[in-house]
Amino acid sequence: MTTTTSTITPYNRVTELKAFDQTKTGVQGLLDAGIRHVPRIFINQLETIQKPSTSIELPLIDLGSTDRASVVEKIRVASENIGLFQVVNHGIPLSVMHETLQGVRRFHEQDVENKKRFYSRDASRTVVYNSNFDLYTSRAANLRDTYFSFMAPSPPKVEELPEVCRDIQIEYSNLMLKLGGLLFRLISEALGLKPNHLGDMECDKGLTFVGHCYPACPQPDLTMGATKHTDDGFLTVLLQDDIGGLQILHQNQWVDVPPTPGALVINNGDLLQMISNDKLKSVEHRVVANEKGPRVSVACFFSSSLAASTKVYGPIKELLSDENPPRYRETTVHDYVQYSFSKGLDGAPRLHHLKLL
Ligand code: OGA
Ligand code: NI
Repeated sequence: MTTTTSTITPYNRVTELKAFDQTKTGVQGLLDAGIRHVPRIFINQLETIQKPSTSIELPLIDLGSTDRASVVEKIRVASENIGLFQVVNHGIPLSVMHETLQGVRRFHEQDVENKKRFYSRDASRTVVYNSNFDLYTSRAANLRDTYFSFMAPSPPKVEELPEVCRDIQIEYSNLMLKLGGLLFRLISEALGLKPNHLGDMECDKGLTFVGHCYPACPQPDLTMGATKHTDDGFLTVLLQDDIGGLQILHQNQWVDVPPTPGALVINNGDLLQMISNDKLKSVEHRVVANEKGPRVSVACFFSSSLAASTKVYGPIKELLSDENPPRYRETTVHDYVQYSFSKGLDGAPRLHHLKLL
């Protein structure tokens, strides 16, 4: 009888994940220690093989335009066909954008002992730093560390936020809530609803501030900054620095979302796709690893994930008809985000969980 020999050296992945987790210094800690090779817990051959990308002209929408009908129409076309667009004249001053990125960078680069105090996987904590929220469930870990806090509807006490970024984080989040109000009014109109429809549904009330740091990677062909995923909330507003690496899956091609000075990237999340009954697309996206770094980005998720609210969301009745019956069952944001958290980034699209046959 013949036996087959595996070419992959067996290793105890869980032990290595735990050892990494227990350092409480994330991927930044590994790189600070001078590693030249990506440790095997991060190796992601499935995704890196398909790394090549292309570019298309992505919609850039001027929110300062006085032609509201044209802004709404551009948002409709972008949200239906791509699931992502960029905006300028969004009300966030350049200086605030710059200082927000700097604040997140300061968080990740601060004294290790200070930073470690925030390291946690405890879902009940509201101000958290860790590496790979799905460390123990994903097939391959990503080369990024993340700091996040829930900023609305119930923000943490000022003293609970990290000293190195709290002021700018609060300022940025307040401006984000205003921008979110505007975006949800425009998206309501793009869906043919009254401007306050999504606001009345409280889609713009929950905000999570997420500050990622993607350190320079010695072997970018072996791992990812963030594996392919959709965002689980209603809408994401992303502020990225000038390094690049974000890509979306559009018509089966990976397309670069290059940094555009002064612009913010807006992408639909699963819950918006769900309540719009598939009219608006939740776009798949990822971040490739880069020899340049650290890359810093701030994602603001509108999703009210923390509030264990009993409010139930389903496809919006006004959008349904005999020809367009509901495609999803109802859920609370809390239940969906919990499910999404438990699944992690890679794997089958998480929205399938709610799909009606
Ligand atoms: C996310 C995300 C992209 C980036 O936080 O969900 O996709 O560029 N971030 O950091
Ligand atoms: Ni994302």
